Amino acid sequence: DSAFNKRMKPMKEFRHGKIPKITVVGAGQVGTAISAMLLLRNLTKYLVVLDVNYELAKAEALDFQHGSAFLGDPRIVPCGDGSHSKDSDLVIITAGARPAGKDRSSPGSHVQDLISNPADVMTYAVQRIGKLPKHRCFTTGCHLDSMRFRNFIAGRLRLPASQVQGFVIGEHGASAVPVWSTVSVGGIRLKDVVKDLACGEDPENWSEINEQVASGALSVGKVKGYTNWAIATTCTDIVDAMCGGRGKIASVGTDMRGFNGIKDNVVLSLPCLVKAGGISHVFELPLTDVEKKKLHASAEILLEAQCSLKL
Ligand code: LAC
Repeated sequence: DSAFNKRMKPMKEFRHGKIPKITVVGAGQVGTAISAMLLLRNLTKYLVVLDVNYELAKAEALDFQHGSAFLGDPRIVPCGDGSHSKDSDLVIITAGARPAGKDRSSPGSHVQDLISNPADVMTYAVQRIGKLPKHRCFTTGCHLDSMRFRNFIAGRLRLPASQVQGFVIGEHGASAVPVWSTVSVGGIRLKDVVKDLACGEDPENWSEINEQVASGALSVGKVKGYTNWAIATTCTDIVDAMCGGRGKIASVGTDMRGFNGIKDNVVLSLPCLVKAGGISHVFELPLTDVEKKKLHASAEILLEAQCSLKL
């Protein structure tokens, strides 16, 4: 092993395999956008559209079924109470506040991916209520913030976002930490060639991207009332990593106690290797003192939110 492998800490060993059956909980803007992408990319052959509003679940499922000839003839089943979600290989929870609270239970599922906001705190709650292991119940978390980060950097450099590396960690929300020391393009670390990158005098004013990342959802949401396309692509990317079995390193969120100096059971995002069975490894970033401080401040905010829950 290289010294690098010491930074790649195992979370859990698990079986590998395909993900044929997926339940998407919540048939709103986010849930239906995710379902559409999963179907279009042939990432599932058996999709359960679950919503406490069964009429809505039926209508959305029917709408997808009408196009099924163009989608590889998947099985698409509506559900109002979780009865069809049993034995799902993956459950994606997008449901917001609902009167009944039935929508959180998905018995027998193998992996759960939490999208519902506040995503980190919701993940903590579902891990606790469902007694689910942290490597199998996680949130897409800062994978989306990382995509926004890369997108803003790429815009400035006039390069495709896919060619910019970089991670955002911590809360999926206002206290998210863009880790500038991880930003590299074509093997060149940005901080090695840009003076005072997003710190100190910051002559090129890169730190404005910190604000753009923090307010990314807001600038879309204040017009649309919600965001759905970016989170749907982010979620689909994670599902693809799990289905393909190849795995992918992404900043996703789970209970990170013991990683990067986090001492409490707090759900936040760090770069993880996500494979068929969930999170297999967490990558401990060599953070600068300022980044460490920001990560721990983010963890404090999340811990406080977690403690306010009545579980
Ligand atoms: C966003 C929502 C999904 O960041 O939290 O777009």
